[in-house]
Amino acid sequence: MKKFFHVNDLGDLGAALEEARQVKATPFAWKHLGLDKTIMLVFFNSSLRTRLSSQKAALNLGMNPIVLNIGQDSWKLETEMGVVMDGDKSEHLREAIPVMTSYCDLIGIRSFAGLKDREFDYNESVLRQFIEYGGKPVISLESATVHPCQAFADLITIEEYKEKKRPKVVMTWAPHPNSLPQAVPNSFAEWMNAADVDFVITHPRGYELDPAFVGNARVEYDQMKALEGADFVYAKNWSCPGVTDPAQYGKVLSKDRSWTVDERHMAVTDNAFFMHCLPVRRNMIVSDAVIDSPRSIVIPEAANRTVSAQVVMKRMLESL
Ligand code: CP
Repeated sequence: MKKFFHVNDLGDLGAALEEARQVKATPFAWKHLGLDKTIMLVFFNSSLRTRLSSQKAALNLGMNPIVLNIGQDSWKLETEMGVVMDGDKSEHLREAIPVMTSYCDLIGIRSFAGLKDREFDYNESVLRQFIEYGGKPVISLESATVHPCQAFADLITIEEYKEKKRPKVVMTWAPHPNSLPQAVPNSFAEWMNAADVDFVITHPRGYELDPAFVGNARVEYDQMKALEGADFVYAKNWSCPGVTDPAQYGKVLSKDRSWTVDERHMAVTDNAFFMHCLPVRRNMIVSDAVIDSPRSIVIPEAANRTVSAQVVMKRMLESL
């Protein structure tokens, strides 16, 4: 496997989930694969789970992880081509990428959407440069439009906790004070569409996700109606994707607290499990009562980030 951005990069999803079960049961069984191999984990943005779970997955596989925080540990990097570099960016990705990949065998990149230029973000312009100029297998550790390691961990968690063969999974928008990217909901939608679940998306009007990710999912604008009978409630904020009005891209259109997932919302579900990728704003996204309830599985969900990362790195090492 040379890149990990989308669910299709894994091939057969059932086989990938079975591999995840094996990796979780015996995490050190493939330690030989990473002997004398190095993974570089490059962070343009903050992280807790992705940083730690990726390092742990690499160590489980016997690899040496190198973590680089761009702009803190390194020079600030210019990402756009053709610009006059007379600002605070000292080095261009065009040189930095081949230099970084000369020191590693695999590379993971966290580079959030800027939320200013929809075309730049939705072309995955930064990630594409790592593919073009790096020459090494690339993992998205949340890039402009996707967060596949998160979505894979989410699916692993749903498989572990589901109490019905084909559960109803509802992804609901929830309010947040800031403008957040669409990478997590995009990938979650993509992965749920590929999984054997009844998938529903609910959000206020104007927050329509890109059709490439929504696929055939049912979109229900009435949140309470969407949540009826749900087995899993996946809460997430995202800013305006600019699908119906590109001028609104990245804007916060609503902070309606009636969308905060609380006990009233959970009461109409089928005793659903609560999920969120974390970090989460308590009493904005979800009430204390819901996230602290026995049906909240946000911690095992985060723990599965090591499993998803390890399956991806294992496959990449096997194909070097
Ligand atoms: N869910 C997630 O990616 O967490 P971090 O931003 O802390 O890595």
